[in-house]
Amino acid sequence: MNLTHIEHLGIAVKSLETAIPYYETVLGLKCYSVEEVVDQKVKTAFFMIGDTKIELLEATSEESPIAKFIEKKGEGVHHIAFATKDLVSDLAECAENGVQLIDKAPRKGAEGLNIAFLHPKSTMGVLTELCENPNK
Ligand code: CO
Repeated sequence: MNLTHIEHLGIAVKSLETAIPYYETVLGLKCYSVEEVVDQKVKTAFFMIGDTKIELLEATSEESPIAKFIEKKGEGVHHIAFATKDLVSDLAECAENGVQLIDKAPRKGAEGLNIAFLHPKSTMGVLTELCENPNK
């Protein structure tokens, strides 16, 4: 594996409008980007803290995975994302180790990153994202 650090934590929220002021005013972080990821049916808001980001996720449709997550579990931590230097090789290695992949090949996520998810069934319940910055 080629993991370097925690790239971000994904947090499911009902409303960015409610959540962003908490992160900005109470925690003192700055929201530097709000972006809709159409094929994921989410709107995201990003905050930087050290080398790690917080990614807030709001559903844009009832079919959104985030809407389903909140319906089942309520708001809260949705996934952990590790930065990797070689996503394709890491996915192959995960598969060799019997980890169930949600994405067998990288796809485009927020911020132009190449991303892929590992199934929480294989990761002790933690939805896990691997991401590689193609510009680094
Ligand atoms: Co993410």
